[in-house]
Amino acid sequence: MSAHKITIAIDGFSSCGKSTLAKELAKRLGYNYVDSGAMYRAITLYFLRNYIDLTDHAKVQAALDDITLVFHFNEQRQTSDIYLNDEDVEPYIRDMIVSEKVSEVAAIKEVRKFAVAQQRGMGKRKGIIMDGRDIGTAVFPHAELKIFMTADPEVRVVRRYKEMFAVNPQITIDEVRHNLELRDYIDSTREESPLHQAEDAILLNNSTLTREEQLETVLEWVKDRATNPALATATNQ
Ligand code: DC
Repeated sequence: MSAHKITIAIDGFSSCGKSTLAKELAKRLGYNYVDSGAMYRAITLYFLRNYIDLTDHAKVQAALDDITLVFHFNEQRQTSDIYLNDEDVEPYIRDMIVSEKVSEVAAIKEVRKFAVAQQRGMGKRKGIIMDGRDIGTAVFPHAELKIFMTADPEVRVVRRYKEMFAVNPQITIDEVRHNLELRDYIDSTREESPLHQAEDAILLNNSTLTREEQLETVLEWVKDRATNPALATATNQ
């Protein structure tokens, strides 16, 4: 039976290892990886740079109308960079100033509508892996493989701290912990598409497997779904 390309949705809290897994899978499968969080981060950067009042829906919508987001593959990093109105903003979107605001921005209805429409467009062609918070529940509810990743809270804090420290040695572990806790709270309690595990998502605890074990496990799941039409159900919109 020949394997066909599927859609893979990976959701979970931040710093659970979603993007590491997604990138490795994309490489092994020859799929396209889309970091949906980068889109919310780029939008947040635009709002910060242009002093957009987040409570003013007309201003938010007008700002969104001025935003074009495109991903371009970066050979050096072996993954895609996000471009905001033709500027590669990858170096700025993980700054603390963006991290502190992004959950608030991502909770805005107009912002979600804008991002989800683009994400669905990218998913029209199969062979895509997208990670985020609402990919299996809202963006691709018919994805053939949905994974919900978790990791011990302290493992996540240390992982994020190491990432942040590399670019900002002033950062403290308490600041990182506070930011993660706050974002978890906002992301999972917001009105619009809050983070929760889709009924048909497989739970993957990142703290209990090595990177290689995890990759091999997920590759098996992909193989099952790509070769078994009964598992690989509907198509995405
Ligand atoms: O994955 P990340 O930490 O880069 O995501 C940044 C923020 O974007 C996160 O706090 C929640 C939001 N987000 C979202 O609401 N929906 C997504 N699909 C992806 C991210």
